Amino acid sequence: MTVPVAAGYSRTQIALHWAVAALVAAQYLFNDAIAEAWSAYVKGTAALGFDPLVPAHVAGGVLILALVLWRIALRATRGTPPLPEREPPALAVLARATHLAFYGVLIALSVSGALAWFADVRPAAGAHNVLKVVLLALIVLHVLAVIFHQSVLKTSVMRRMVRPGA
Ligand code: HEM
Ligand code: HEM
Repeated sequence: MTVPVAAGYSRTQIALHWAVAALVAAQYLFNDAIAEAWSAYVKGTAALGFDPLVPAHVAGGVLILALVLWRIALRATRGTPPLPEREPPALAVLARATHLAFYGVLIALSVSGALAWFADVRPAAGAHNVLKVVLLALIVLHVLAVIFHQSVLKTSVMRRMVRPGA
């Protein structure tokens, strides 16, 4: 996918990045309710009362999917800033791969969750559980890369994900 080159991330792109990051964090922090509801469903036992965190997980996931599709559309139409010149070529490849993997994994997580929940596709829950670990690994890699950029490469990547560029 060739992406147009922009001077910086737009206000909307930045807002979407941080909104998705916050929603993803909430999916991990409040995951007990959905895990219990699913296990009760699979075992055929009744869930213990109504927990609003169950529909919140489903709605949060659907919202993440919508925002990620919006981000991909913005990437394709408006573009993204080029990777910093100081980025070693091997890291540039890794950065591109990580960013693309984020989009793919976020879509696959939402779709697998929805297939399990709405269509009773049991193996999709297994895939969901594997993907949640893959996403965590990507997040760790991503945050380490940002720290490396700040402290060693001394590039402006953090600033440009905070302040909109032209
Ligand atoms: C990117 C979006 C999503 C993320 C990051 C995410 C994350 C998670 C996490 C961390 C769990 C862990 C439960 C555990 O530790 O056992 C989980 C379970 C689950 N999620 Fe999601 N989820 C997302 C989207 C969705 C959507 C859209 C749905 C439904 C429409 C959904 C349905 C479920 C179900 C049914 C489970 C229980 C599966 C099981 O325990 O085997 N998820 N999710
Ligand atoms: C669930 C959490 C996160 C996800 C899914 C995520 C995803 C992404 C993606 C896909 C991009 C590439 C944007 C594009 O060019 O299309 C990106 C860029 C970026 N992210 Fe994250 N991110 C997350 C959390 C964080 C956190 C916690 C930080 C800060 C420590 C951060 C800092 C950045 C920065 C600075 C960039 C800009 C990179 C550049 O200028 O090339 N992200 N993020």
